[in-house]
Amino acid sequence: WGKTGHRATAEIAESYLTKKAKRNIEELLNGRSLAFVANYADDIKSDPEFRKYGPWHYVNIDLEDEKYMPEKANPKGDLVQAIRKCISVLKDNSAPKEEKQFYLKMLVHFMGDLHQPFHAGRSADKGGNDIQVRWFGEGSNIHRVWDSDMIDSFQMSYTELAENTKDLSKEEMEKIKSGSLLDWVYESRDLADTLYASVDNGEKLGYEYMYERFPMVLEQLQKGGLRLAKVLNDIYG
Ligand code: ADE
Ligand code: ZN
Ligand code: ZN
Repeated sequence: WGKTGHRATAEIAESYLTKKAKRNIEELLNGRSLAFVANYADDIKSDPEFRKYGPWHYVNIDLEDEKYMPEKANPKGDLVQAIRKCISVLKDNSAPKEEKQFYLKMLVHFMGDLHQPFHAGRSADKGGNDIQVRWFGEGSNIHRVWDSDMIDSFQMSYTELAENTKDLSKEEMEKIKSGSLLDWVYESRDLADTLYASVDNGEKLGYEYMYERFPMVLEQLQKGGLRLAKVLNDIYG
């Protein structure tokens, strides 16, 4: 996602944290909110010292594979390895505060990216980055339409997006929180498959695409927020 999507995910998560998780996070982030740190992982991308974390923002599963194959995974890291690493450092009682702070900021971001379907897209087109489209007449690509174009066109702040998520029943909430990290990856990958099938290179997208697909954006932001809270609540059990 772009900045607003990441902040919305973090803001939604904030409202589902247990007291214990809240306390631990406040202390690690020196009182800053999750939304405040949600874009840190993108902000450091241009710094040579942090360039190695570039591949951590996405995961590409080969078309012929149904499942994530650890032996075929990117040795430079991917979204699955990234999230596992973040969780393990945050659970490690011997890790220094500075390291925990870094990986908490990364985790908040990566749980967002996990729910942008094209961050679990195909490697051949760089997760849709190579599929050029027009967005309301301007040059874009389908990855960017999903990262930020739709959200920007909607013109709502991240707090408004967080406040306007759908009311969910207890059952719906439990269903979203269930499953493993890999189940969540496959869910995004499957959504990406559908989205790939519904766009052509060079296609003109605008109101119609927005009308049809923006509900899925909101749903993904909400799932990302709920699952980020679940992961954090589990860490601070
Ligand atoms: N961003 C850059 N490369 C990517 C890829 N292969 N998949 C998803 N997002 C990306
Ligand atoms: Zn992206
Ligand atoms: Zn990212």
